[in-house]
Amino acid sequence: MSRIAYVNGQYLPLSLASVNIEDRGHQFSDGVYEGIAVRKGQIRDLQPHLDRLWRSLKGLMIDIPMAHGPLTMVLREVVRRNRLRDGFIYLQVTRGTARRDHAFPLDAVPSLSITCRRLDFDGVAKRAEVGVLAHSTTDIRWGRCDIKSISLLPNVLAKQEAREAGAFEAILVDSDGLITEGSSTNIWMVDDAGTLITRDTIDNILPGITRAVILEVAAELGLKVETRAFSLDEAYGAAEMFLTSTTSCAMPIVGLNGKKIGAGKPGPIALKLLAVYMKKLDQD
Ligand SMILES: Cc1ncc(COP(=O)(O)O)c(C=O)c1O
Repeated sequence: MSRIAYVNGQYLPLSLASVNIEDRGHQFSDGVYEGIAVRKGQIRDLQPHLDRLWRSLKGLMIDIPMAHGPLTMVLREVVRRNRLRDGFIYLQVTRGTARRDHAFPLDAVPSLSITCRRLDFDGVAKRAEVGVLAHSTTDIRWGRCDIKSISLLPNVLAKQEAREAGAFEAILVDSDGLITEGSSTNIWMVDDAGTLITRDTIDNILPGITRAVILEVAAELGLKVETRAFSLDEAYGAAEMFLTSTTSCAMPIVGLNGKKIGAGKPGPIALKLLAVYMKKLDQD
């Protein structure tokens, strides 16, 4: 079955789906995006994803392409037409198509495109039993990382550097030596006392939807949480580390820059958080 995309009012086979050559997303990265999980045919955490999308659009002064209600219907239709059970929806809004000029065009209509693909959540849970490696690199991004902008070049370069170092994720480190987040994930550590630590979202990072759910799970489990920055050195001494994102859920990090984290295997707190997170994903 061919995959179906939605582009500006039309549902099309992926191979026929396209945007205008003068779309400002193509020429300026002038747009925002969301990545949303689908589990058992249901779109998960839709409201927080739409709320974040609205904040990103507002942050870049891009008009809203359609209201929550119609957009939800389009997203459900994409899921239905792709017969998606477990998967990932990619939604992008750009400022629209206009003759190339840096300043905002007066009359551009926002461009909305949506694609989806399968995602094996059981495979993610299996991978978590082994954990992943991480590699740190300098965070060279701009001052509005709270906006989920499609302008991802620093993230792309960081992820590539990590992959070439044999790691799954790049951990970004700011000029003070403090970890900001991953190239496409939020980063967490657990200290020797069992306290969960992750950077505050007021601190120029993306407010991850998975991060918010994991904070809820941590509260349900009665875990102590600190939302504050931590350094690479503090991370080296962590009892556990893990990363969170829509596609990786809560994934244990077992090594950082060639050094073992904790016992060098997935920690019990990360695995417990993942187990409860997966249950929520199944039930909500
Ligand atoms: C830079 C960055 N941080 C964190 C995340 C995790 O966000 P979420 O949990 O909403 O997928 C992402 C996801 O794309 C990201 O790109």
